[in-house]
Amino acid sequence: MEDAFQNDAIDAQRALKAKRMKLFITFAAGMAGLLFGLDIGVIAGALPFITTHFDLSSRLQEWVVSTMMLGAALGAISTGWISFRLGRKTSLTAGAALFVLGSLGSAMAPNVVILLISRVLLGFAVGIASYVAPLYLSEMSEKENRGKLISMYQMMVTIGILVAFISDTIFSYGGHWRMMLGIISLPALLLMISVFGLPDSPRWLASKGKFEKAKSILRMLNTTDAKADSELEEIHESLKVKQEGWSLFKENKNVRRAVYLGMLLQAMQQFTGMNVILYYAPQIFKHAGFANTEQQMIATVICGATNVLATLIAMKTVDKQGRKPVLKIGFAGIALGTFLLGVCLFMINAGFSALWISIFAILMTLFTIASFAMSAGPVVWILCSEIQPLKSRDFGVACSTTTNWIVNMIIGATFLTLINTFGIAATFWIYTCLNVLFVVLTILLIPETKGISLENIEKNLMEGKRLRDIGV
Ligand code: BGC
Repeated sequence: MEDAFQNDAIDAQRALKAKRMKLFITFAAGMAGLLFGLDIGVIAGALPFITTHFDLSSRLQEWVVSTMMLGAALGAISTGWISFRLGRKTSLTAGAALFVLGSLGSAMAPNVVILLISRVLLGFAVGIASYVAPLYLSEMSEKENRGKLISMYQMMVTIGILVAFISDTIFSYGGHWRMMLGIISLPALLLMISVFGLPDSPRWLASKGKFEKAKSILRMLNTTDAKADSELEEIHESLKVKQEGWSLFKENKNVRRAVYLGMLLQAMQQFTGMNVILYYAPQIFKHAGFANTEQQMIATVICGATNVLATLIAMKTVDKQGRKPVLKIGFAGIALGTFLLGVCLFMINAGFSALWISIFAILMTLFTIASFAMSAGPVVWILCSEIQPLKSRDFGVACSTTTNWIVNMIIGATFLTLINTFGIAATFWIYTCLNVLFVVLTILLIPETKGISLENIEKNLMEGKRLRDIGV
């Protein structure tokens, strides 16, 4: 009787420990997502002040924005190798250290060159975080809540963007752009400290032959030894499938189709123009007739909040409505939003200034953001991880993630040039046309993967079925 009590107490203690460890893991990986979002969001509010401080041309402003994406593309492309060789934990530590270095460097930059170099470093950190954190989370979680954890990570990205917009607004009153950029080093420091307490991923340890270490971590994460051992057995089985991305890509047409589809999806996500709005929001509101910085910043915060709320709704609906209809409606919504935003800006530029036009312009901006956040934002990341065959999954996801950052850089680096060349209204209409094209491409090429097992998707792909049919 006493023994049974004692055993129960030990079990409860173990369950509590496992739960605490998982919470800590979620917190640390969530911090990486938050930093990703903070770094995307911070530049919108800081840019106007940096422009005045260093007297930047439009070209240099574009570079201040997009050097981070360049660094992120480099980070994402090299992290596959780094995280395979050195492990997820070491990569995250390196990422966190770069976050601190990049934030302090850009906050203290005495000239534009140092600012640009710091932005590349910061980007490298974001690239590492955007690749390793979801991977680490998926390896540390039980299969039942894997999807939930990855969506939580997405959610943290949007919260990071919102928090950056709010902090920008607070610091904008004194024009303190250095504080806007520097304050991010605090959460980066917190991430760095917490990463030291993280266990390494058992899956990675096992892939390096360190089974005993993997076993002890699994036992720490699970409530019973039997559960931990059966998970180790599963890992053992799955490791039999060797990752052969590059060689398969060269040899197998179907693997190439999946990799290209992933890259196309990410290119479509970025060419929607969503990030143009996020990076240049205050400038857009200035064009829309809000001359005062305070109004521009408040409108920007509302954009960030809309992004978070719409992502929350998407997380609840995406498994019910399916990927394809959500994407079609989303692209169509962005096309409509950018078209009407262009109309408002055209009218204002033509001299029809009225408060209702400016308010309508903000509403259309919010509508565009919500359309993105409820569709292409989360759905593209989900699809990209679902369509790659197991043997080349790491390679395929690395290719699509890198495409995301390269196209992200292209849109960041061309927006002001497009405005100077075609005018702001026509620039948004270019995005309208692209989004109309994406509705058509979604109908023609994108599969519906809702409720279909990954094995089935792979089987259909390898049988040579049309891409849009691989989820049937
Ligand atoms: C995109 C990012 C974007 C973010 C906005 C993500 O899905 O990949 O480029 O900034 O959504 O919430």
